[in-house]
Amino acid sequence: MYAIALVCLGNICRSPMAHVVLEARLHDAGLDDQVAVASSGTGGWHTGEAMDSRAAKVLSGHSYDPSRHVAEHFTTDWYAEHDLILAMDDSNYADIIDLAPTVAEQSKVRMFRDFDPEATAGDNEVPDPWYGGREGFERVLAMIERTTDGLIAQIPDLINPA
Ligand code: 4NP
Repeated sequence: MYAIALVCLGNICRSPMAHVVLEARLHDAGLDDQVAVASSGTGGWHTGEAMDSRAAKVLSGHSYDPSRHVAEHFTTDWYAEHDLILAMDDSNYADIIDLAPTVAEQSKVRMFRDFDPEATAGDNEVPDPWYGGREGFERVLAMIERTTDGLIAQIPDLINPA
């Protein structure tokens, strides 16, 4: 299995939403037997908790199932267990890089929105919706769905690099 890790700060909003959407779309694409998905947060405060209720509500409203999420904490061990580690924002990226066991393994880390066709050099983060209202979570979901489609299209090349 090709293993993808999605990482944000708390693992209760952004990376869990991306986790649910990516799993659903891998299933729809018939790729769920080739790609495994996990998510975690660089901060451990919410470990063991369910998804943020606002994130869950927005996912449910778009026919996704948020109910199985249990928050995990990103540690150095995640490098050995995953082929591709995708950071939601620049600060997550820096924190993940700091935990790399070797410099070579840092190449596993990319920005999630590297796969968003609408991302630009100055707009390549998934903003933290934690302090905002429902509107912010809806915007984040649209960004995640668009990026996930871009990621799904790249899966064959990721699994079998030229
Ligand atoms: P997330 O959002 O990184 O998208 O899961 C956050 C959730 C919780 C906190 C920060 C961000 N927090 O500080 O507890």
